[in-house]
Amino acid sequence: MLYLDHAATTPPRPFVRTAPFGNPSGMHAVARAAKHAVEAAREQAAALIDAEPLEVVFTSGGTESDNLAILGSAMAGDQPGGVVTTAIEHEAVLEASRFAHRLGAPLTVVPVGRDGRVDPERVAAAVDDDTSIVSVMWANNETGIVQRAEEVAAAVKARRPDVLVHTDAAQAFVSEDVTSGPFDLLTLSGHKFGGPQGVGLLYVRDGVRLQPHLHGGGQELGRRSGTHNVAGIVALAEAMEVAVADRERFRADVAEARRRFETAVRSLPGVKFTDGAPRLVQHSHLRIEGASSQVLLIRLDEAGLAASSGSACQSGAVDVSHVLRAMGWTDEQARSALRFTFGWTSRPEDGDNAAAILSEVLS
Ligand SMILES: Cc1ncc(COP(=O)(O)O)c(C=O)c1O
Repeated sequence: MLYLDHAATTPPRPFVRTAPFGNPSGMHAVARAAKHAVEAAREQAAALIDAEPLEVVFTSGGTESDNLAILGSAMAGDQPGGVVTTAIEHEAVLEASRFAHRLGAPLTVVPVGRDGRVDPERVAAAVDDDTSIVSVMWANNETGIVQRAEEVAAAVKARRPDVLVHTDAAQAFVSEDVTSGPFDLLTLSGHKFGGPQGVGLLYVRDGVRLQPHLHGGGQELGRRSGTHNVAGIVALAEAMEVAVADRERFRADVAEARRRFETAVRSLPGVKFTDGAPRLVQHSHLRIEGASSQVLLIRLDEAGLAASSGSACQSGAVDVSHVLRAMGWTDEQARSALRFTFGWTSRPEDGDNAAAILSEVLS
């Protein structure tokens, strides 16, 4: 199987690190060993995103980190605070924002241009006296298009320095030099860069107050109760370390794989790449006029190539992508979209092989 669905989940990196089994909250040596492992992972993870260890909150993944960022900020004060986000965010951000709205928070969803990018000034202009948090993703999970999240942060802070700015860097971390930089909150998810599924982190700038949504034993300084996923946390930090150390090689290999793939596929009839704006080096997104992505994905799977349409709901039912709609695509165009995402296991010749399989399936 040629696996080109790294944006959905990456194969785990083959590192072996045993994690102690104790409950880090206990009072004995077994517990201390587990606590030590979690705190060492916290230091390791923090250093890799230019953060302080106590600014790292371990979570169950990107979805929880996004929810904690949005709902935790919107619900931190006496009254629900406003949320400003964009039309192309991951569902975890959009649905958390809509839920905050149902709880009384004002919500503004800023549209994007046909190129899939949001205008930082337009985001800043949506900030008003009620706003608590602005959330703009680093790069989109369907198209790979990179947003100007740092410019958004600067524009928002110039208008209202006390408004929190969150970025979801789940897709970007593996290939971009992601650090906490100007952000107050930043989401990472382990299984997008060679770590395990079900573990992630939220960077929370020192001094930022969040309303927790998991209440219990007060772990993570009260920001996220629940016994630590010690093995997951140790592996998350290790995967971050390996991903950062391997970034340069990664970028070179996937850039070459994608170049070969796109060069060969571009001449096929009806093919249109989504490449008008800066995009993650590992993403290739396209549509094929008159084709059905669902049918093509089944055929590609039969031919040994794992790809994606970029959007599918949990049931596997066909859903028209909100991201592509926001970019002005018709529903028919959106239903013909395909996403090929290269990753750490990809070699340059995978681009040739993928192009040959797609070409064969199309013919
Ligand atoms: C941009 C983005 N944010 C959040 C998530 C959710 O992360 P997780 O699967 O760890 O809950 C994903 C995963 O698809 C993603 O691509």
